Amino acid sequence: MLEVQNHWVAIFNISDNYYAIEDVCTHDGGPLADGELDGVEIACPRHGARFDVKTGKHLGFPATKDAPHYLTRVQNNVLEIAI
Ligand code: FES
Repeated sequence: MLEVQNHWVAIFNISDNYYAIEDVCTHDGGPLADGELDGVEIACPRHGARFDVKTGKHLGFPATKDAPHYLTRVQNNVLEIAI
């Protein structure tokens, strides 16, 4: 997790592809980067809501809203995140 332009961002490396979503669970603010990753699904460590790290889409209750996701790319060995 890192802070980019006043956003806490959770970054995931899955098969050498980088994905970035807001590191704030839409249910009650849990830190998604501290959750357990299963494939492309991250489970919030607070109450277990699941999100797709590729899209930020919520996949299970108690979250009812998607997490913002950000485009990423690697340029000259530097990871860039579009906020
Ligand atoms: S804060 Fe994430 S599921 Fe409740």
